[in-house]
Amino acid sequence: WANVSTEKEKTLAMIKPDGVAGNYSDVIKTAIFYSGFSITQEMLLELNEETVRSFYAEHATKSFFPSLVQYMSSGPVLIMVLEKVNAISDWRNLIGPTDANKAKVTHPNSIRAMCGLDLQRNCVHGSDSPQSAYREITFFFNKSSSGYVSRHDEL
Ligand code: PPS
Repeated sequence: WANVSTEKEKTLAMIKPDGVAGNYSDVIKTAIFYSGFSITQEMLLELNEETVRSFYAEHATKSFFPSLVQYMSSGPVLIMVLEKVNAISDWRNLIGPTDANKAKVTHPNSIRAMCGLDLQRNCVHGSDSPQSAYREITFFFNKSSSGYVSRHDEL
């Protein structure tokens, strides 16, 4: 009990082009609310290639990078900030494994099993650590509206 955190945490969730185009946004948001998250910020936008390259910069040297850039800039995405206790790992658990094909077998109730197709077209994104949540949230939303302005910054 002593180690259970009651601090609320934020994570970045994104419904990818195939999820938005397939009209999955409403059912995914219902799953989000049923799982106890609040959506504190939300933005529908079309990412250009340069923005995708920058967002996924850590994968720039991977062979799949050009294909990922093309896919992620192929249509509108819905970007959300989710908040709850343990938001980062709870959202990762709700979406299931990266490879939607595997998710269908091992995590049939996950979001990727419901609306993903494969390793690339996996319907949704979620930050994988507190560091990436901070980077990804402030990549799309300004720090103060995301609640990241510390007392130190305000002084
Ligand atoms: S890695 O290599 O383990 O760091 O990659 P991973 O964290 O599993 O995935 C990073 C994101 O890249 C996408 N991805 C791919 N796209 C196309 N082809 C292949 N082979 C591929 N492998 C991974 C994957 O969908 C991940 O996107 P996010 O948005 O992080 O889920």
